[in-house]
Amino acid sequence: MNDMSGLPAGQKKVFVKTYGCQMNVYDSTRMEEILAGQGYVRTEQPNDADLVILNTCHIREKAAEKVYSELGLLRRMKDERRAQGAEMVIAVAGCVAQAEGEEIIARAKTVDLVFGPQTFHRLPDYLARHRQTGAPVVETEFPADEKFAELAVRKAVGNQVAAFLTVQEGCDKFCTFCVVPYTRGAEFSRPVAQVLSEARALAAAGVSEVTLLGQNVNAYRGAGASGGETSLAGLVSELSRIDGIERIRYMTSHPRDMSDDLIEAHAANGKLMPYLHLPVQAGSDRVLKAMNRGHTADDYLKLIARVRAARPDMAMSGDFIVGFPGESDAEFEDTIAVAKAVGYAAAYSFKYSPRPGTPAAELARQVPEEVKSERLQRLQALIIEQQQAFNRSCLGRTLPVLIEKPGRHDGQMIGRSPYLQSVNLKISGNKRGKIVPVAITGVGPNSLSGQYVEADSLLSQRNGERDL
Ligand code: SAH
Ligand code: SF4
Ligand code: F3S
Repeated sequence: MNDMSGLPAGQKKVFVKTYGCQMNVYDSTRMEEILAGQGYVRTEQPNDADLVILNTCHIREKAAEKVYSELGLLRRMKDERRAQGAEMVIAVAGCVAQAEGEEIIARAKTVDLVFGPQTFHRLPDYLARHRQTGAPVVETEFPADEKFAELAVRKAVGNQVAAFLTVQEGCDKFCTFCVVPYTRGAEFSRPVAQVLSEARALAAAGVSEVTLLGQNVNAYRGAGASGGETSLAGLVSELSRIDGIERIRYMTSHPRDMSDDLIEAHAANGKLMPYLHLPVQAGSDRVLKAMNRGHTADDYLKLIARVRAARPDMAMSGDFIVGFPGESDAEFEDTIAVAKAVGYAAAYSFKYSPRPGTPAAELARQVPEEVKSERLQRLQALIIEQQQAFNRSCLGRTLPVLIEKPGRHDGQMIGRSPYLQSVNLKISGNKRGKIVPVAITGVGPNSLSGQYVEADSLLSQRNGERDL
């Protein structure tokens, strides 16, 4: 029998909204997979959903607050559905769930399920418990190894060409501003065999590019297939032997864990893409120390020089925090100086946001909001300038572009360069998932445009680009 939605009996709809970092994007994909096994199909309309999941982020105050305003809207939708005789189960997952647990139910009574990033694999059990008792279910344990062992073999959801693959979770670094060690727990690396089998499943489903994820992905130390520990460089080397996996990326890295073998891999392994997200956070050594980053500005610059010696075309990316407690004008100038010395292809900058339970939130001399805003504006203007300069430097080059999806206009496709730039181009035939040479002819604020270079004309045009 069909219900009014036209779905077969037993089939329900789930709406998932994802906040925060790529690890949450990955987790949302895995939750959708689990739910597909329970008869749920995805919907893009929350008011149409039997189950709504907010996969939340706690990194800055604004990120956490968004969840509560969303819950306000959902409460009304839930009431409307109830008036029509339908249910809506509301779940809060992710890092706000982990950090706030029961408090969420106290603040938003409409919420039915609360569970952290380490226990989403038990979602079917939570749903069953909630169905039986009607009471809220709150779970904020930390059994990371159990989660990955229990997640079924990966199915590529949504026919992707590029996919995320979490290889490492949690963090033991305890930067004084950061909630991640509390929301994601201690550092944990997935065993090599598990990662390889997931990557093979992705390749079999048509994925050509994998981005290995971890809060400190370059601290990866996974149990090797034949005993011992494997570093991220070792893992990359094994992954690059999988047929169909053409490109490998990883994020986010910590400067302290950028080992020699990983730098060497950038010189030796053509599948490892020349793009490195390496946050520095600040340019002043005093601030870096107060942040507990464990390196100086000079260490960071020297490290980048070594990376660029191994891979001269390496595109650098990073994160910055402005207005950390006590940051003076002169100390902020040190941040500007580091950014100028690096020349980023992309970078993200944030105003310091005091987070409950972190040491920096207790520090005196919090920087006034206007000062933070002013500093942020200056840093962002500099980064935009650098990004545009980097994009312009690609003009006239022929880059290998992975064709990902149709563009806005007919016959147009959008692909990705090795440096993670979007590239718009016209291309006939089904080249989705293929890596093709593209002559870069235009530069927009956030993307490039170019022309597909046919194979025969390529021979005469070949100009020493190392990626082709
Ligand atoms: N593991 C990564 C970062 C994870 S969080 C690393 O060590 O670099 C992503 C970014 O959010 C951080 O790099 C930092 O720039 C920013 N961030 C974290 N906590 C913050 C806070 N309390 N206020 C403002 N920005 C913050
Ligand atoms: Fe947070 Fe620092 Fe760990 Fe990155 S290294 S997740 S900023 S504590
Ligand atoms: Fe946010 Fe959690 Fe990621 S706090 S940045 S979603 S690890």
